[in-house]
Amino acid sequence: MAVERTFSMIKPDATRRNLTGAITKLLEEAGLTVVASKRVWMSRREAEGFYAVHKERPFFGELVDSMSSGPTVVQVLQGENAIAKNREVMGATNPTQAEEGTIRKEFALSIGENSVHGSDAPETAAQEIAYWFSETEIVG
Ligand code: PPS
Repeated sequence: MAVERTFSMIKPDATRRNLTGAITKLLEEAGLTVVASKRVWMSRREAEGFYAVHKERPFFGELVDSMSSGPTVVQVLQGENAIAKNREVMGATNPTQAEEGTIRKEFALSIGENSVHGSDAPETAAQEIAYWFSETEIVG
């Protein structure tokens, strides 16, 4: 299995409830290593740019409002099969469909305030990492 990097965010609904440590612990216990991490309060413009792929969707305004409502922790995670492993630990987008033991089952409030984001493919992982980090900020 290949060692990969993926992009992860601990969203404002979770930082507001002081869940950064609890969520990071679950990621680390799954074998993922945090090789970059910073806390940002994204602007509306940054949120719109990050989620541009969803701009035609009916929930776009709500998503941008929520993501710019408070601090987010942006991270790069590294490990074997990191993209799929992170998605597995996160659980389904809608917390009502998330499996027991996943981050979203445990902590998410709703489909919009679902505590974490993770890249879904190698191409998006590379784009999303580059959106928030320079190479020198990533220490593998
Ligand atoms: S997925 O996993 O990309 O297929 O999920 P999708 O349903 O396409 O949702 C993409 C992101 O949009 C967020 N979302 C919402 N935000 C606010 N309100 C509503 N109703 C809503 N529905 C979906 C969802 O949390 C996904 O965010 P990320 O950060 O990509 O996980």
